[in-house]
Amino acid sequence: MKSRTDGRHVSISGLGCHVPERVMTNDELARLVDTSDEWIRDRTGICERRIAGPEEALSDVCRPACRKALEMAGVDPRAVDLLIVATVTADMLFPSTAALLADELGMPDAAAYDLSAGCTGFMYALAQAYGMVAAGLSGRALVVGGDVLSKILNWEDRSTLVLFGDGAGAVVVEPVDHGGFLGFELGADGAGGEYLSFPSSGSRVFAEPERYLKMNGREVFKFATRVLVNSAEAILETCDKTVDEVDVYVPHQANVRIIDHAARKLGFPDEKVVVNVDRYGNTSSGSIPLALADAGDDGRLVPGRLVLMTGMGAGLTWGSALIEWTHVTNGAIA
Ligand code: ACO
Repeated sequence: MKSRTDGRHVSISGLGCHVPERVMTNDELARLVDTSDEWIRDRTGICERRIAGPEEALSDVCRPACRKALEMAGVDPRAVDLLIVATVTADMLFPSTAALLADELGMPDAAAYDLSAGCTGFMYALAQAYGMVAAGLSGRALVVGGDVLSKILNWEDRSTLVLFGDGAGAVVVEPVDHGGFLGFELGADGAGGEYLSFPSSGSRVFAEPERYLKMNGREVFKFATRVLVNSAEAILETCDKTVDEVDVYVPHQANVRIIDHAARKLGFPDEKVVVNVDRYGNTSSGSIPLALADAGDDGRLVPGRLVLMTGMGAGLTWGSALIEWTHVTNGAIA
């Protein structure tokens, strides 16, 4: 699916992010599995990540992010009528984490649901919120992307353990006078679903049940390098924009080698590319908002700038959004 928005202006007016306090370094992981700081840095660019505590669930990580986003937008929670949480690690399958958060945040009039599209979830949720707000079904939405993948990792499997971290981000999506979202491009290829899965987490019975996230790293790597480029090119073409016109490029933060490959292929100079995978690892649905927060703190998210975001992940899925930024956004980490 790719489409250009139809002239109704809807934008991000507030951004909030949160990560658990606990920092886990590569050296610590090297004491748990057969790996090294050098291998992890060379192959992924990751130096450390945040890990939720035993009592910390997804909603606990999302809540401060939501409050920060509402505060930045100057929005009373009661004025939010749609709350979407993109995640693959909800507190539980039901009730949805969105419903729990809507209650805790004080949003009695909000429709609230979780959305599952792997690491691309935040991009899918943004597109849905845009559609609901632009169509007038919702007056104002809160879109949250967050995951605590540490809870579903096999802590004895070095090939996945070193890649992921926990974190969440939230944005307020509402009508504006000018600027805002220009278009979206979203896709899914279930044929590649087996390359990144969490078997035995649903109704399918497996002969050999797996309780943990399972990944074929090489296949996901090939997919990621391909779709980050294709999706960005597709959205730019759809919106009649060029790479040169984009001021800030925010790719999914999975691996610095994947980001470098996409940026080079697309022709983005380093100064336009946001990278924070070194500090957070791959935070799945939290990745894009956390990268936006870094761009905001660097003074890059100012009105009039063109921002390109592309996510990819389990499904396999991918998604891009192009937005003309409308609000000064910094200090988003709560
Ligand atoms: N430490 C040390 N050695 C390791 C580790 C580790 N943590 N993990 C794997 N190795 C070994 C392998 O066993 C292999 O050894 P062998 O040659 O003796 O068989 C060797 O390192 C090389 O393994 P490769 O898989 O070829 O390493 P590669 O360079 O491809 O890097 C990686 C692996 C980092 C996983 C890479 O493939 C990757 O980033 N893939 C994409 C992952 C990704 O983006 N996932 C998230 C998607 S988003 C979502 O929805 C969650």
